[in-house]
Amino acid sequence: MLTPPPLSLYVHIPWCVRKCPYCDFNSHEQRGELPFAQYVDALLADLDFDLPLVWGRTVHTVFFGGGTPSLMPPEQIERFLQGASSRLRFAPGCEITMEANPGTAEYGRFEGYRSAGVNRLSFGIQSFDDGCLQRLGRIHDSGEAEAAVRLAQDAGFDNINLDLMYALPQQTLSMAEHDLERAFALQPTHISHYQLTLEPNTVFAARPPVGIPDEDAGWDMQERCQQLLARAGYGQYEVSAYARPGRRCAHNLNYWRYGDYLGIGAGAHGKLTLGHEQTILRRWKLKHPARYLAAAGTPDAIGGDDRIEPARRPFEFMLNALRLVDGFALDDFIYGTGLPVAAIEPSLAIAEERGWLEREGALVRPTELGRRFTNDVVELFLSES
Ligand SMILES: C[S@@+](CC[C@H](N)C(=O)[O-])C[C@H]1O[C@@H](n2cnc3c(N)ncnc32)[C@H](O)[C@@H]1O
Ligand code: SF4
Repeated sequence: MLTPPPLSLYVHIPWCVRKCPYCDFNSHEQRGELPFAQYVDALLADLDFDLPLVWGRTVHTVFFGGGTPSLMPPEQIERFLQGASSRLRFAPGCEITMEANPGTAEYGRFEGYRSAGVNRLSFGIQSFDDGCLQRLGRIHDSGEAEAAVRLAQDAGFDNINLDLMYALPQQTLSMAEHDLERAFALQPTHISHYQLTLEPNTVFAARPPVGIPDEDAGWDMQERCQQLLARAGYGQYEVSAYARPGRRCAHNLNYWRYGDYLGIGAGAHGKLTLGHEQTILRRWKLKHPARYLAAAGTPDAIGGDDRIEPARRPFEFMLNALRLVDGFALDDFIYGTGLPVAAIEPSLAIAEERGWLEREGALVRPTELGRRFTNDVVELFLSES
């Protein structure tokens, strides 16, 4: 039996001051005044349209992602959250995260976000080296990054993530270490540490910047940074995520545990378990902001609907769960996919034999070797049917 797992709400804000050359997210460079009030109307109409899919369920986490959500005035974030909480039940202590770009951090804004209900911020810092920031095309420098985090802390935010990237053009091992030291000095509760990837259809993919560290150098940086993070009290719980005790990101954990999420906003993706239909629905919305704005709240805003066949579910589940250092419980597989453990028994056995996974009672977790070869491990669960 498919059993609906915890539900999250993802809200996409599709604009940025400037498009970064490495970025393949649905973000569009700002041209003139942005229609924030109209966008919030569209978000609420979009939510109304999807509500029948989640009737009676409780929302455990909310995440404003982008793009650059911190371009939105606090009053509009507040209007959205009030509208959303009058339509959906929010769990007590619901984690509400907003991504913020240090280049858009005006004085006074953070108080507004906080009183609107946002209780976690995620800053796109990337690096504290001004040369690296320039080569990445960022609109902020390291001083602005530090000032933005301090402003947020002064406004009462005590749950802050910093996004950092490594293996940057012309970055050395000691520069990557130095980025972490500067991050630790700000005492964030969480650090996301991503290796820069050249995504198709980006400026960097078309014209790779000079001096990208090779695979070995990237690997050395990762290993060394993992040690520094552990020493500073940030426990790794996912491929790129590190947290102080009790500060793991509940929203992202729900994705990795194959939880459900409503996706609202231009290009947003959702995944919902429909108990009455015994199916899993993936739904995404139109990507282009103007087209989305015109259609939100009607069937025309749906970019696509996909019902996940049982044969595809083991692969989807593993793609997420095997990113987690702690792996998953077999029960979560059974309820989340609606399939018996027998469906993955042969693949589990192969992965164990190759030293990629280990089982302890009803728990399955990737070994260190398995975490190095996640793609190969996950591929074992691809159905041939
Ligand atoms: C959706 S972005 C939004 C954050 C915010 N807009 C910003 O950039 O300041 C989330 C994070 O993904 C990471 N990221 C984006 N593109 C990446 C790439 N090509 N390779 C590795 N990490 C990337 C960055 O660390 C970024 O902060
Ligand atoms: S600010 Fe963030 S979302 Fe916007 S273009 Fe840059 S990396 Fe992408």
